[in-house]
Amino acid sequence: MKPAIDGIRVREDVWKLAPWDDTLLWYARAIDSMKQLPIGDSSSWRYQAAIHAYLRSEDPFSSSEDRLPSLSHRRRFWNQCQHGSWYFLPWHRIYLGFFEQIVRSHVVALGGPDDWALPYWNYSDEENPNARLVRPEFLDESLPDGSPNSLAQAERGPTSGASGDFGIEPSDTDLSCLRTVPFRTGRFGVPSGFGGPRTGFQHSGGVIGDLERVPHGAIHVGVGGWMGAFETAGLDPLFWLHHANIDRLWEVWLNRGDQFQNPTDPSWGAPSGTEFEFHDATGAIETLTADQVVDTRAPVLSYEYEDISDPMPTAGLAREELIMEKGPAMLVGASEETVRLSSTPTSVNVQIDPTAMADNRAALAEGEPQRAYLNMENIVGAERVSSYKVFVNAPENEPEAQTNYAGVLPMFGLVEASRRDDPHGGSGLTYVLDITDVVDRLKQKNEWDDKNLKVTFVPKQRGQAGAGVREGARVGRISLYYR
Ligand code: C2O
Repeated sequence: MKPAIDGIRVREDVWKLAPWDDTLLWYARAIDSMKQLPIGDSSSWRYQAAIHAYLRSEDPFSSSEDRLPSLSHRRRFWNQCQHGSWYFLPWHRIYLGFFEQIVRSHVVALGGPDDWALPYWNYSDEENPNARLVRPEFLDESLPDGSPNSLAQAERGPTSGASGDFGIEPSDTDLSCLRTVPFRTGRFGVPSGFGGPRTGFQHSGGVIGDLERVPHGAIHVGVGGWMGAFETAGLDPLFWLHHANIDRLWEVWLNRGDQFQNPTDPSWGAPSGTEFEFHDATGAIETLTADQVVDTRAPVLSYEYEDISDPMPTAGLAREELIMEKGPAMLVGASEETVRLSSTPTSVNVQIDPTAMADNRAALAEGEPQRAYLNMENIVGAERVSSYKVFVNAPENEPEAQTNYAGVLPMFGLVEASRRDDPHGGSGLTYVLDITDVVDRLKQKNEWDDKNLKVTFVPKQRGQAGAGVREGARVGRISLYYR
């Protein structure tokens, strides 16, 4: 564990800690102590998870003795997580900040250090062959002293092979999102945006920003179990390490260069942006807006990351800078019917209008790059399904050819975004893939057709998507945009 300097605590890479480093030991002990508190106490383990989302029917600890906070309290402080929104990053930052403060207060009460900080899980670290595995401390049944280990107490998906291997693949930890320049998603999801679309309070659904899709969503689905749903994710001690890393990637992105900037729109932060309310470690209510947490060293947060170096300093040059005001995105083709995804690969043809393509080209300045976006709009489903890999113009005999690979759709939050009683009206998830590079590759190989686009969805866990799932996910529309 690294000591704080000038009151700024250090969030460390969990894979660089010694076995059962103090950071992990104290985390485990603090969780035990948080679990002793009733769900109505804002410093309890279950309350903290309920801030993200709570559904009694999905609560694995639900008991007749529970005394939930009043309905108005729950409406104000629970089910608050922000997804499909430009508040995704700041909201989770504030959430983790207060959580960290609460864990620390438990650590201190137990006689531990007052500079405890959350570690992060850097699953994308190419120098670490174990990066995609779960650290053994989150799997061991007991602590070194033989007492039960709260870090391992979570329901997770099946491991494949070595213990700690939940089947997370390189495509799940890919950092292409760092190449996306604008923070904010544009109209029609074009450009896709690093941080998500402009919204008000947005609990689920909508257009998912690039970082929120991969690695964020892919890791949720990859670990599976409690991590796979909004209501239970925060009950897994790993959740907090995952989100510390997502929060760290925001810092990495900002450090890449001058074009990488947070929204400057006054409706993101104060005075007109959405305000978020939390309880601090003393139980007092704190209200914060996005612009108040852009600096992790601000007194309310007071942390920094051990490492925010650029993981792809040369290869990861920014995608050509996109100025949204330059010209509108143009729809050049769309599927006509709802597409049903299943537990086997599904292909769909989308007709392209060559005139619209030419019009778009003509609207761009000489030499200005033209970019292609594949939108999967309004994906809904009543059950948790597998993630899907998307391929463009994949050959019949090789549906998963690397040349044709466009990206992964993690389906985290699918059920949540499909509920009709959700404030967003159950309109589902919308994923946008920037497929410019794929299109270029296909053109070079003469596999691009100006009139027709074939999109193939390949389920990642075929068994899982099939077993027990009566109705897979449905994609409302598949569309191709250029700008
Ligand atoms: Cu609000 Cu990773 O989820």
